[in-house]
Amino acid sequence: MTAPAKITSGPRHVACIMDGNGRWAQARGKPRLFGHHAGAQRVKEVVRACPSLGVKYLTIFAFSTENWKRTQAEVAGLMKLFRRYIQAEARELLAEGVRVRFIGDRVQLDPKLVKLMDELELLTSVNDRIHVTVALNYGGRDEIGRATKRLALEVSAGRLDAADVDETTLARFLDTHVLPDPDLVIRTSGEARISNFLLWQSAYAEYEFIDTLWPDFNAACFADAVRRFAARERRFGAVPA
Ligand code: FPP
Repeated sequence: MTAPAKITSGPRHVACIMDGNGRWAQARGKPRLFGHHAGAQRVKEVVRACPSLGVKYLTIFAFSTENWKRTQAEVAGLMKLFRRYIQAEARELLAEGVRVRFIGDRVQLDPKLVKLMDELELLTSVNDRIHVTVALNYGGRDEIGRATKRLALEVSAGRLDAADVDETTLARFLDTHVLPDPDLVIRTSGEARISNFLLWQSAYAEYEFIDTLWPDFNAACFADAVRRFAARERRFGAVPA
């Protein structure tokens, strides 16, 4: 596969690490969950900004495989927020042409939440205006581990020849197999880490580490990051033309 040496247009797929909710709340003397609720409101705004910016795919990191280490109260509050959010927003997401998908390991999630996730995926599967993928109980290494296990099972069942396995084969087993790779990954809150997010898929992504905390990250901040991307030269390992 030969990638283009230069892209001058905007990103088709943007992925966001929505960081800083806890600090935003603490700065206001509020519990961390207050920040997560404020952050959830920003998600809507960013989704709505996508079509006019030419962003067709948006992937957001809602809960990582490492986030279980947080207090029981914060984890339970986040899970409740996800359930409520799906119930409250399903109709609007459908009406606005959003196709929602979830990536991550569902096995550890509450079956009630998984049912809502499955229903939302099915309900919005008719849409194609914007594709929003929510990473929930997601970790890049965990995803690669699960994909490798499924691939190994195919080989041991004789449906796949080990000699034919290459990077394209493995990508077919990833949670993201139907999505293009992200062009731009944004992390808010001033931290310059990727925290196990889309490790495989972001091999050639551009990164934006932005100081703004996620609950302050509005549509204008998102549009600025998208425009800065358009000014970058992407080489994919090639020599500039
Ligand atoms: C990281 O900030 C944020 C999270 C772990 C949760 C992200 C969730 C939302 C934005 C809620 C809404 C999501 C959906 C899909 C409706 P942090 O808590 O690590 O912040 P800190 O670094 O300041 O502590």
